[in-house]
Amino acid sequence: MKEAAISIRNLKKSFKGHLSIGRIEALRGVDLNVPSSGIYGFIGPNGAGKTTTLKIITGLIFPDEGEVKIFGKPNSEFTARSNIGFLPESPYFYDYLTGEELVFFFGSLFKIPKKELKERTVSLLELVGLKGKEKLPLRKYSKGMLQRVGLAQALISDPELLILDEPMSGLDPIGRREIRDLILKLKKEGKTIFFSSHILADAEMICDEVGIIVKGKIVERGKLETLLGKEVRFWDISFRGAQVPLELSQKTVVSHEDLTMIRVDSEEEVETALLLLQSNKSKILSVIPHKASLEEIFLSSVEEGKNDKQN
Ligand SMILES: Nc1ncnc2c1ncn2[C@@H]1O[C@H](COP(=O)(O)OP(=O)(O)O)[C@@H](O)[C@H]1O
Ligand SMILES: [Mg+2]
Repeated sequence: MKEAAISIRNLKKSFKGHLSIGRIEALRGVDLNVPSSGIYGFIGPNGAGKTTTLKIITGLIFPDEGEVKIFGKPNSEFTARSNIGFLPESPYFYDYLTGEELVFFFGSLFKIPKKELKERTVSLLELVGLKGKEKLPLRKYSKGMLQRVGLAQALISDPELLILDEPMSGLDPIGRREIRDLILKLKKEGKTIFFSSHILADAEMICDEVGIIVKGKIVERGKLETLLGKEVRFWDISFRGAQVPLELSQKTVVSHEDLTMIRVDSEEEVETALLLLQSNKSKILSVIPHKASLEEIFLSSVEEGKNDKQN
């Protein structure tokens, strides 16, 4: 198996707060393993420690404790870091540069021959959907266009790993969708994408794996299917029958003429209900399990995080 794209062990970081608060523990022992392919969502509410983690991975700031490896190499090594493309949270762009100039400028920081750099700039701007806008100054770009040119910038050195800090926040639904589609396209091209977000719906739609961070600690991690499949909250059973068995009348959600839907909350109850319905000759139409959404998992993790803090 290929080495993890990012492996983080016991990362700790605190900042000096205002006089009255003392130190802020931004990261309290973060462990994370990002596989070498696919899309990994690093999710958590504001202030959870996402940006701090990303800054440490990319070498912008140093941790108090812990280590980070990129494809098996310590992130202190230049070769490890040069395999990362990074889109910061609120990119500061040179307003008067055009999109083309910006991408070219960042590319020129790498040892890419000029002709190749020119070609790459053109094809990356096309990839991110900015063809025709490359000569416009960035101050005329919308937020979504800035995020896309930022992605082109992050891709200029053809890194294996892309780290994106909140790539979808502040965008309207169309802009978010464009970024989502672009991330999916990059995955297809073989890039590993690690992005942070507090927007759950976006993460839920495209991530293969997620890690949820709350107050500087990972509270949940794993493959999305496993996380989402872990908890069935309730089952809805629909059936057609002249009479609803007495035992099930309490569970009835809707009943219209001979159609009824009941809701039960355990597998045993599903079994009991089905036996009852069979014995009174009802026709079962469907049994639908309702699993937790990422949102519910997230909210319960945030609750746990709160309790954790109090203890
Ligand atoms: N340079 C800094 N100085 C002081 N506190 C900071 C600094 N950077 C981050 N923090 C604090 O660390 C915590 C985590 O912040 P951050 O990593 O930006 O969270 P997120 O990106 O998840 O919103 C917050 O409480 C934030 O106020
Ligand atoms: Mg942040």
